[in-house]
Amino acid sequence: MQHKELIQQMTLLEKCALLSGDTVFTTRAYSKHGIPAITLSDGPNGVRKQAGAADHLGLNPSVPATCFPPAVTIACSWNPALGEEIGKAMGEEAAAQEVSVLLGPGLNTKRSPLCGRNFEYFSEDPYLSGKMAAGYVRGIQSNGISACPKHFAVNNQELRRMASDSVVDERTLRELYLTGFEIVVKEAAPKTVMSSYNLINGTYANENAHLLQDILRRDWGFNGAVVTDWGGSNDHALGVKNGSTLEMPAPGGDAVRELLKAVETGKISESDVDARLDELLTLVLDTHAAVEKHSRSFDAEAHHALVRRAAAESIVLLKNEENLLPLATGTRVAVIGDFAETPRYQGAGSSAVNSLKVDTVLENLAQSGLQVLGFAPGFDRRGRADAVKEAEAVALARQADVAVLFLGLDEIKESEGLDRGDMKIADNQIELLRAVQAVNPNTVVVVNAGASIETPWLKHCKALVYGALGGQAGAGAILDVLTGKVNPSGKLAETWAMSYEDTPAKEHFAGKGRTVQYREGLYVGYRYYQTAGVAPAFPFGFGLSYTSFAYSDLKATSDSVTLTVTNTGSCDGAEIVQIYVAKPDAKVFRPVQELKGFEKVKLAAGESKCVAIPLDDKAFRYWNTMTNAWEIEGGHYEIRVGASCEDIRLTATVEVAGTGAPNPYAGISLPHYESGKVMNVPDAEWEVLLDRPIPDDTVKIDCNMTLGELKHSRSPLCWLVWLVLHTMLTNSYKQGKPNLNVMFQYNMPLRALAKMTSGAISMGMVDGIVLEAKGFWGIGLCKVLVEAVKNAILNAQLEKRLRGA
Ligand code: BGC
Repeated sequence: MQHKELIQQMTLLEKCALLSGDTVFTTRAYSKHGIPAITLSDGPNGVRKQAGAADHLGLNPSVPATCFPPAVTIACSWNPALGEEIGKAMGEEAAAQEVSVLLGPGLNTKRSPLCGRNFEYFSEDPYLSGKMAAGYVRGIQSNGISACPKHFAVNNQELRRMASDSVVDERTLRELYLTGFEIVVKEAAPKTVMSSYNLINGTYANENAHLLQDILRRDWGFNGAVVTDWGGSNDHALGVKNGSTLEMPAPGGDAVRELLKAVETGKISESDVDARLDELLTLVLDTHAAVEKHSRSFDAEAHHALVRRAAAESIVLLKNEENLLPLATGTRVAVIGDFAETPRYQGAGSSAVNSLKVDTVLENLAQSGLQVLGFAPGFDRRGRADAVKEAEAVALARQADVAVLFLGLDEIKESEGLDRGDMKIADNQIELLRAVQAVNPNTVVVVNAGASIETPWLKHCKALVYGALGGQAGAGAILDVLTGKVNPSGKLAETWAMSYEDTPAKEHFAGKGRTVQYREGLYVGYRYYQTAGVAPAFPFGFGLSYTSFAYSDLKATSDSVTLTVTNTGSCDGAEIVQIYVAKPDAKVFRPVQELKGFEKVKLAAGESKCVAIPLDDKAFRYWNTMTNAWEIEGGHYEIRVGASCEDIRLTATVEVAGTGAPNPYAGISLPHYESGKVMNVPDAEWEVLLDRPIPDDTVKIDCNMTLGELKHSRSPLCWLVWLVLHTMLTNSYKQGKPNLNVMFQYNMPLRALAKMTSGAISMGMVDGIVLEAKGFWGIGLCKVLVEAVKNAILNAQLEKRLRGA
């Protein structure tokens, strides 16, 4: 224990109180013990420090900061060193604003393209996610403060986000949903990790001993602090016992009393509290010291330039018929589309930064060298048909050499708290595209979206550029790529399916009841499309360039791969070389191939480079549920070197020694998992993989019932609450602006009332509300009132006792 002496000086009450936040974004300070308060702030793509009224949804304004491109964008750079540069800059701004813990990066595996927070996450592949996130963490922490990779773990949807139970088999859990976090923890040593809201196989992530103790702390050697997601603590005492350090935001006296009582009754021991306190004190003292000596300013212009460079490096060129791009200087262009004037450059919710400034395409056109004939918004952003706007755009397009259309997903489509309903771009935008193409075949589409979209309209454009969400300088980055100032080198970090109907999790996303079945198992993203033989619109790892690359001289061992890459075109560029490992004769079922290495190589025109890519301990392993360990099936493996997961250029075979473990599936029939065709796995087969019966899914009236489920209660008062919320939510959809507060409340369990009201509501009061919901109206209401009085008195007493600390 690092802080034994200090801990010995503290009373049990003081200790327990320190393990939860003091305000929405700060910890408690004890001047008598020399313990300062520290500030935690979002987030993953820039600092969102709320100096005034604070909330965890980005509702109240925050101190202006640089808005970096979200993870969805930077993931397409496949460049962890770029992630590190961004992390360093974000960390610098955080420390300058006296923030000790920056709440990011987010690295949940993109299970379904519809998850509302996909823009905050890197990839469908855990190896790519882990490597990118590790870059961010190293960069952020180079400032002495803490990064906080999140949301640990299996948090892949927004519906019932604080109370849904992710039902997943152990092998899939380890290989797909934890490997990214393993890479971050082992390779970048984050000082904190954020536990997720959801349950995993029946136990909340934040009190899940298997997740936090067995895997995070024991297997991976994490010795930092686990911070709950905001309001994500269910049973604080169990959390502390099982490895969760700090409950956020400010649950008030009730959480302190809960811990005290748990120690007094023997539910947990004082040494559990001490162990967590030791982790917390290291975090507080170290990061506070770093913040104290850090400069209070940063170079905003340099950070703006970094955003532009990073966004440009991440843009993916998806189609370029007849080499329409790059546009030569002087090309007469019609600039069309609302997104050229009002960019979508970041997502909504807790990650939203109050940007220092935001570039638009329109403002940057003057420096582009293009001859701009004019601008027409072309469509109504909220999807309503607008014949006048369309006609104006068509007239403009008619006169131009090239029409550039800026299309995208509007603000309501993707947000924290809300899963997407489909993968489509609004009909009126596609309608406009058709009309423009009819008068000008030289049509370029630029898409701003934080997630993959369907592209049945692809034939209506000659070029397609995916700009993702470019951060505050993303507009300039797009112009750099359109004009060839930057040769695009991004590649997709997630598959773009032909249609949502083709996506493997669709039958079990987002789950109507309490549980979400991860029935597709390992077959997420390209692992599914390639194994099941389903053709996507654009495969994982795909992206074009203005030049071309040749691959040669492959040499592979089980430890490393070397090859030569040559730029065979006439302009400088960068190629992302991807290493996939396959075992065509595998006895233990597995996806046909999996990403196990990659490297971004910069090459001048005509230049060749020898590239060495290491293969690490993750290259051949699989999780064996019989031995409960990582094992290797011995024999031959194919090392496939590709420009995307489909465009394999070179292949070599290596011999790998196995670990000799028994095949856990010997004698068991799992035809869907063997073939990867996991769309309709029958219950019986899924139960075999899961190794237990499918859990009950019905909504129960208890403290984890969400406000959106109150219609299932037996109380008119609760029905009324539901009706009001439901009406407000529906109205906010109609207005096209997500009402985050209402969305959050809708998916919030009753229990969270006690966790997110700074102590005003206690768990005792929540128990009263549950009684009310169960139909014991009188008793329920009385309990709420009695507990409210009790809570107010106990809170006052507690604060008085603590004030001396
Ligand atoms: C989000 C976290 C965020 C936290 C604090 C939560 O609602 O899930 O990602 O860091 O709020 O704002």
